Amino acid sequence: MEQERKDKGLSRRGFLKGLGGGAIGTAVISTGLLNVEPAEAYTPEAVGTGRGKSLVNLKVNGRNYRVEVEHRSTLGEVLRDELGLTGTKIGCDRGECGACTVIVNGRNVYSCSQLAVWMEGKEILTIEGLAKGDKLDPLQQAFIENDGPQCGFCTSGQIMSGKALLLKNSQPTEAQARRALSGNLCRCGNYNREVAAVLAAAKTR
Ligand code: FES
Ligand code: FES
Repeated sequence: MEQERKDKGLSRRGFLKGLGGGAIGTAVISTGLLNVEPAEAYTPEAVGTGRGKSLVNLKVNGRNYRVEVEHRSTLGEVLRDELGLTGTKIGCDRGECGACTVIVNGRNVYSCSQLAVWMEGKEILTIEGLAKGDKLDPLQQAFIENDGPQCGFCTSGQIMSGKALLLKNSQPTEAQARRALSGNLCRCGNYNREVAAVLAAAKTR
């Protein structure tokens, strides 16, 4: 896998950072970074039909967006398709695998199982929001150093669940780290390395 990435001119570090796609700039241009105004109201009844659209104010990775979303659209769909933040992966699209995990108001959630209209005014953190410029988040760095990513498909979700844990508990035990990642399936079976990465990141803090 590593050789494959090298062949394509991608380092493991670049790959991890690229899970974010570096797309924030594009997203801001394509969707418009606007001063937040109150969104138009949506009604639970309208959402229940799955029809119609509403304007929703989202704060994603510290930036404010005002986005028109279909009532049936999930947060994951809006992040990827409207904001261009494709670091959030969609695996099962039914709340089972955890690939789509993001942090909303400090809690890790499955973005495939949350409607975007429920996100009005909430603070959302995705994998793209972790690195500061060229400096990876310590948890991203720890995933590299501990061979956390294998195929990489689950990695951004694993990192976001690990990050949510570390935001609440800077010195977790191994059992706590395992439990925090228990909602994230890894088809490569790389669980021990992913847990090791979370514990290593905790040591650097
Ligand atoms: S894609 Fe959301 S839980 Fe699998
Ligand atoms: S690294 Fe392949 S699915 Fe987890």
